[in-house]
Amino acid sequence: METCTSSQALQERCLSWRQSGHSIALVPTMGYFHAGHEELMRRGRALAGKLVVSLFVNPTQFGPGEDFAAYPRDAARDAAVASRLGADLLFAPTPESMYHPDHSTWVEVPDLAAGLCGLSRPTHFRGVCTVVTKLFMLVQPTVALFGEKDWQQLAIIRRMARDLSIPVDVRGVPVVREADGLALSSRNVYLTPEERAQAPHLQKGLALAAGMAAKGETAPADLARAVRAYWAAHMPLGREDYLSFVHPDSLAPATDAATPTLAAAAVRFSRARLIDNLLFA
Ligand code: PAJ
Repeated sequence: METCTSSQALQERCLSWRQSGHSIALVPTMGYFHAGHEELMRRGRALAGKLVVSLFVNPTQFGPGEDFAAYPRDAARDAAVASRLGADLLFAPTPESMYHPDHSTWVEVPDLAAGLCGLSRPTHFRGVCTVVTKLFMLVQPTVALFGEKDWQQLAIIRRMARDLSIPVDVRGVPVVREADGLALSSRNVYLTPEERAQAPHLQKGLALAAGMAAKGETAPADLARAVRAYWAAHMPLGREDYLSFVHPDSLAPATDAATPTLAAAAVRFSRARLIDNLLFA
């Protein structure tokens, strides 16, 4: 596996691969790899001739007071993981090499970014869209992989690629979970043991709503009431940031969970804010 730290080196390498007829899969990440990231790499490896993994804790997607400085990092271990999973290139730039001091161009998808995580993180998706656009321009991948754990992010990137006619196949990858149902996240390391024991109830609460909807109880307000009561009983250390029932593509609030519905939630623990979702089958 090659490693590059400059945008120019990445661009040159990918251009020469494309000129030799190789397809390229891109897996954008912020590192501190877990089995969710590994699944994205494994699938990317199978989908194209070359696999590029980017590792960049992107400052522009963190708001003031968020955990940019404290975001977990382990560059040496991450490089070993990417190499083991067959990455051809690891792109690990510095913030200075990704953003000019007078960077002033932003990519936004306001319709999809306003709700859910956008309510408490108003500039987050603008940072995500901008960095992902830059990665798409540098690598010009055939296919790019994103996890369904960050469902809103995936929906926004799909819309962005469509609206800007970026010729990339955006693929979603199902959520990888611990045995007890907790979605893997780099931020799980910040849970105390007590919080870690309660955190699987985030998903279990959403599953309770799915069960109710399957039995015909489809009023979102009733579902929300039941989930909140469940969380209050089983996850008292978590503080709800949001709980929403939305259409899975438009992310518009559902008026009736009988139609395609995604339950999405974010919960704050003492040092970690966790998100999860569940698509009602
Ligand atoms: P990061 O949080 O490192 O996640 C990188 C990719 O891994 C994202 O597509 C995310 O959805 C996926 N992922 C994380 N946990 C997962 C899990 N348990 N199961 C399946 N996939 C999972 O998301 C970002 O970085 C950044 O916003 C980024 C897109 C790289 C832009 O900076």
